[in-house]
Amino acid sequence: MIQTEPIYKKVALIGTGAMGRGIAQICAQAGSNVYLFDASEGAALNAKKGVLEQWDKLLQKSKITQTQHSSYAARLIVSEQLSELCEADLVIEAIVERLDVKKELFIQLESIVSSSCALVTNTSSLSVTTIAACLKAPARFAGYHFFNPVPLMRVVEVIAGLKTDPSLCERLKAYALQMGHTPVDAKDTPGFIVNHAGRGYITEALRIASESVCDFATMDRILRDQAGFKLGPFELMDLTALDVSHPVMESIYDQYYQEARYRPTYITAQRLAAGVLGKKVGEGFYKYSQGKQELVPEPPPPKLTKFPPVWVSTRAARRASLLQMLKDFGVTIETAAAPSNEALCIVAPLGLDVTTVAVLERLDPARTVGIDLLFPDESTKRRVIATNPVTRDDMREAAHALFASDGKSVSVIRDSGGFITQRVIAHIVNIASDMCQQGICSPEDLNTAVVLGLGYPLGPLQFGDQLGPDNVLETLLNLQTVYGDQRYRPSPWLRRRGALGVSLMQKEN
Ligand SMILES: NC(=O)c1ccc[n+]([C@@H]2O[C@H](COP(=O)([O-])OP(=O)(O)OC[C@H]3O[C@@H](n4cnc5c(N)ncnc54)[C@H](O)[C@@H]3O)[C@@H](O)[C@H]2O)c1
Repeated sequence: MIQTEPIYKKVALIGTGAMGRGIAQICAQAGSNVYLFDASEGAALNAKKGVLEQWDKLLQKSKITQTQHSSYAARLIVSEQLSELCEADLVIEAIVERLDVKKELFIQLESIVSSSCALVTNTSSLSVTTIAACLKAPARFAGYHFFNPVPLMRVVEVIAGLKTDPSLCERLKAYALQMGHTPVDAKDTPGFIVNHAGRGYITEALRIASESVCDFATMDRILRDQAGFKLGPFELMDLTALDVSHPVMESIYDQYYQEARYRPTYITAQRLAAGVLGKKVGEGFYKYSQGKQELVPEPPPPKLTKFPPVWVSTRAARRASLLQMLKDFGVTIETAAAPSNEALCIVAPLGLDVTTVAVLERLDPARTVGIDLLFPDESTKRRVIATNPVTRDDMREAAHALFASDGKSVSVIRDSGGFITQRVIAHIVNIASDMCQQGICSPEDLNTAVVLGLGYPLGPLQFGDQLGPDNVLETLLNLQTVYGDQRYRPSPWLRRRGALGVSLMQKEN
């Protein structure tokens, strides 16, 4: 393989903790000489040892050759003094997340490095423009937001401050490609792309939990099996730990001046105060023994031999496939305009709750149950049915047994506008749409950053296009009706594309 010359030949990495050492590894792999500096004694040397161990492992697995191993290792240099970084052509800072400390460091660096040296911060939550404001030459300053663990999370947000020279971002993007990472352009806004787009999943799940719609484990199962997320929101929070994720939720909410879409709930604040942080302390939303999550058993479906006749709302989502499903189950289907007095009434709304639909359609609420058919049934591993406050036990059991009769998993939840998956997906798509409306990033970069940075099965706008922007719009408008909350107001980006019947990727000239 021909090794091209690295765009930056001498890179200084300041702060060699979790992020700094990962960034150092990929810079050296890109062919740069990397100077490691840390304020804490011995930390840079430790980081060098840590990176060497990573390369040892890659060598053992034959992922790199002995020649590569030796050349990478020769490129990692420990620096004892900040002044030794004077020849760097790029400085990447990955020190403590404090504005005052970062500013102090960059002011010092300005008097050490040459005027052509690029200065870059790996901040995750501070404004790049605000850090740059302390510099004499803010045009040479930008953000490079990597993700942990850096060598495996192959995406980096490249952030221009208000005064950053655009050509610097172009060079940083080209260098990111040399490091094997996919660069995405992000406007200097709170949370940049990934941490901003990630608000939808977690905060909506917490909001649903705060309405006692179902327990944490049920919600995790539903979002894994219906929408294809690798981890449910509560498993994810346990892994990230609430001392990290709760402050991010509050910070983004406050930085956007209490925008309702990002509103956190008391649930995580209280758990943080109690020290119930997640996996690392052995207890979070789940309990852990020896690092393994204790399984929460799922209640089996009731077994019934006789079912009431079933009537399906004429306004049900995916009505034809729902009727076919019921036919395959072998149950009696009523076809009259209104249900008989014995019928189990099935509704399948988008965004509305079962109560509202039962009242609107003049159905007997005691015999009415909802099913979420936002996603086609054949594309999911689980069905979700919802009762309303007066649904009779025998009708709930009949619906549960019926929809489980082909062996598919079924979760039963309390009433919720848009069930669970509809609410969460619509919220994710809406936030992503508004990010495009605000010009934070391009629709393409948004999808790429979320898939690579958060591991979602699809980018948010791809989710929206797959389900139909008009369906997502209808879900949100109905959610707003049910809850009367500004949180669900559709972004103009989504509203216009949904109304026009075009893709959410459609840009405006
Ligand atoms: N950990 C993550 O998941 C993650 C992801 C993206 C961005 N970030 C950002 O990266 C930066 C570093 O995070 P981390 O998780 O690697 O932290 P860390 O605590 O693992 O490492 C920080 C290192 O910086 C050193 N340090 C502190 N002040 C210094 C100074 N003034 N000069 C030189 N060295 C100094 C510390 O000794 C420590 O070794 C932060 O800005 C953080 O917000 C972190």
